[in-house]
Amino acid sequence: MHLPQERGPISRHVIQALAHEGDGSLAPALGPGEVTGDDDVQLALWIIYELHYRGFDGVPDDREWDPELLALRRSIEHRFERELRSATREQVESTSDEGDVGAGLLQLVAADDGPSLAAFLHRRASRDQVLDYLRERSVQQLKESDPQSFVLPRLDGGAKAALAELQYDEYGGGRPERLHATMYGDALEAAGLDRTYGAYIDDVSALSLACTNVMTMFGLNRRLRGAAMGHLAAFEASSSVPSRKIAGGIARVGLPDAVAAYFNEHVEADAVHEHVASSDICGALVSAEPDLRVDVFFGAAASLHLESLSGAELLHRWSTELEVAS
Ligand SMILES: [Fe+2]
Ligand SMILES: [Fe+2]
Repeated sequence: MHLPQERGPISRHVIQALAHEGDGSLAPALGPGEVTGDDDVQLALWIIYELHYRGFDGVPDDREWDPELLALRRSIEHRFERELRSATREQVESTSDEGDVGAGLLQLVAADDGPSLAAFLHRRASRDQVLDYLRERSVQQLKESDPQSFVLPRLDGGAKAALAELQYDEYGGGRPERLHATMYGDALEAAGLDRTYGAYIDDVSALSLACTNVMTMFGLNRRLRGAAMGHLAAFEASSSVPSRKIAGGIARVGLPDAVAAYFNEHVEADAVHEHVASSDICGALVSAEPDLRVDVFFGAAASLHLESLSGAELLHRWSTELEVAS
C-alpha cells in the first residue's frame, strides 16, 4: 500500500517521517479542537496503526517501533480516549452498575437512538450512495476482526475460548474464501469498486477513520482490553438487522447479488455472534476480572457513539445531495 495523501500538519509529519527515514524533528503539537472528527489527526493515527498491520511500500517494517511515532500515537490516543469517555460517561454510569453483563450490553444497544443509516440505505439511497457507503466502510471491513485478534493473548479461560470461537467464524472457519474481509473485497469487486487494501484511504472521512482507529486503540492497549471486548459486543449486536436492510437496499438499486452476499452472511452470523460476544466473552471477562466491568460498557458505548456520529455524517452528506438533485 502507498502512503496516503496528507490532510494537515500532523499527517504530513508522519508521512514525511516514514517516507524519508525521519529527520529527528518532533511532530507539531495537537491543536485545541477535538481529535475525534479531525481529518488530519485521525489520518495520522491510522497511518501509525497501519504499521502494526500491513505496513507501506518502501517503509521498513521496523518503523513499527519508531519511538517518536509511538510517542505521537500515545498523545493522540490519550486525547481520543478522553473525548470518548466524556461523550459516553452518562450512558456508561447508568448502564454498567450491576446485573448480567451480557443482558446489560444488549439493552444498551437496543436503547441506542442513533440515526439509522441502514434504514436509509434500505429505502432511499441512490446507487451512488450505496457505493459511497461501501467505500467508506472499506477501511474497516478489509481488515475485519484483525484489531480484536490483538486481544486474544491478553485474555484467559472462557473469554479467550469464546473470542477464539468467534474469530474462527470471522476468519472463514478454515476456508480462505469465507474470510469476512475477503467477502467484503468480493462485494467491492462485484460492485465495480477497487478491492485493494487501502484503495480508498484518500477518500474516506475522518469519522470513518475514527470508527476503525478506535478498534485498534482498544486492541493494541492491554489496559483497554475490557473496552475492546465491549466494543466488539456492541458492534456484533448492531449488525444482524442492519445487514438485512443494507442487503435489501443493495438489491433495490440493482447491484448484483454478489454485493449483498457479504451482508446476507452477517444477518445470520451476527445474530449468533452478538450472544457469543456479549455473554460468552464479556460476561466471562467480567467474571474473571470484575474491575473491567465499567470499561466493557465504555467500549460498547464508544462503538455506538462513533457509529452514530459517522451515520449522521453520511446521512447529512447524502440528504444534501438529494436536495440538490430534486
Ligand atoms: Fe464478520
Ligand atoms: Fe460477526
